[in-house]
Amino acid sequence: MSVASMSNALLREEVDLSSHVHARGRDYVLYQGDSTALMGGFEDATFDMVFADPPYFLSNGGTTCQSGKRVKVDKGGWDASKGVENDHEFTAKWLEQCRRVLKPSGTIWVSGTQHVIFNVGFAMQKLGFKILNMVTWFKPNASPNLACRTFTHSTELLIWAAPVSKGKLLHTFNYKQMKADNGGKQMRDVWTMTTPKPSEKVHGRHPTQKPRALLERIVDACTEDDALVLDPFCGSGTTGVAAKVKGRRFVGIDMDPQYLELTKRRIEAE
Ligand SMILES: C[S@@+](CC[C@H](N)C(=O)[O-])C[C@H]1O[C@@H](n2cnc3c(N)ncnc32)[C@H](O)[C@@H]1O
Repeated sequence: MSVASMSNALLREEVDLSSHVHARGRDYVLYQGDSTALMGGFEDATFDMVFADPPYFLSNGGTTCQSGKRVKVDKGGWDASKGVENDHEFTAKWLEQCRRVLKPSGTIWVSGTQHVIFNVGFAMQKLGFKILNMVTWFKPNASPNLACRTFTHSTELLIWAAPVSKGKLLHTFNYKQMKADNGGKQMRDVWTMTTPKPSEKVHGRHPTQKPRALLERIVDACTEDDALVLDPFCGSGTTGVAAKVKGRRFVGIDMDPQYLELTKRRIEAE
């Protein structure tokens, strides 16, 4: 047994995934529970792409501006920091499972801000991922900065990475489509997109919903038709919606059944 497959065997857990199914459709399955634990139940090399929008460890009593008013940053208990060491341990564990369940030809995207992205990047490097790009999502409609003591935050960062397989990179990049989508010019790594439109929230609200355009571009960029996409922190299901409209299959995990219901409504509405 090679060192790589030995560690895979250790990471694969006996999990009864069927008892965690929240909803299932023709081309999607939603599981309820802790993502690190549930990912242990998938076979090695199952998924063509992982998109993860994990806790950013942001909800620690700070404030932000919403509709012109100062409000507490409170996305939920799941978003609170447990200290830098514990946060890193959490990140390393779920990323380790993602690495195991990703096909050698697959890629992973992880979104974050300054609060978590270095933590994620370091864990990825330790797991032998090759970082392909760091995409900056620029939000032209970002909230103003009320404290006026720093520059106004208006970006999120997305790491796109691939497992290195026997020294080779085997990932898909639909270069021509990206160039065509960018009016015939090579697409760069700064993407300007607004936060989700009200029309994307008609099925319910999630405090950290991603815009559909962002996920559609990601799915288009690095998967083929019928690819199997995993989102271990699925939230309102934006990744599932993008997978559905682009003809890919989807597996989503979230600990909160209400968010899984929202995901189901959004996917079923497509
Ligand atoms: C940042 S949000 C994802 C938002 C999503 N990208 C969207 O567009 O709606 C993170 C989600 O992860 C879930 N979550 C946090 N910790 C989790 C864990 N350990 N296992 C499973 N889900 C978790 C939360 O309930 C939350 O819905």
